[in-house]
Amino acid sequence: MKIGLASDHGGFEMKEEIKGYLKDYEVEDYGTYSTESVDYPDYGKKLAEAVISKEVDFGIAFCGTGIGISISCNKVKGIRAALCFNEYMARKTREHNNANILCIGGRTTGIEIAKAMIDEFLNTDFEGGRHQKRVDKICKMEEE
Ligand code: RB5
Repeated sequence: MKIGLASDHGGFEMKEEIKGYLKDYEVEDYGTYSTESVDYPDYGKKLAEAVISKEVDFGIAFCGTGIGISISCNKVKGIRAALCFNEYMARKTREHNNANILCIGGRTTGIEIAKAMIDEFLNTDFEGGRHQKRVDKICKMEEE
């Protein structure tokens, strides 16, 4: 499984730690590459496009709160980026929403919770069934 990572400066340090944590995966880093101030939409877009083009299987995105980069990722058609704060949310967004990007706040979430959320996210399958119909409705909204 190939995982894409992206962050702005607010999520940079957490992205770097997570890169080390994901040593059992193939990882592609879409930046940013330092703590210099940058604009989170640029990095959210890069990661989201990599997920849509299947360059990577899933994305993990970071900014200070996780909010800006999640909003940005969700502007790309086909992306379901979920800002999560605990393992339950990370598991449920795979089971119920078929999320393809996990968003985390580098300044609002502890590193151990971030790692635990990533484990849940990457090891949980979409349940389909009644949830498929709901995800289909989201996709339909993108066509309207
Ligand atoms: C950058 O200062 C900060 O605004 C950004 O990382 C993020 O929190 C935005 O939602």
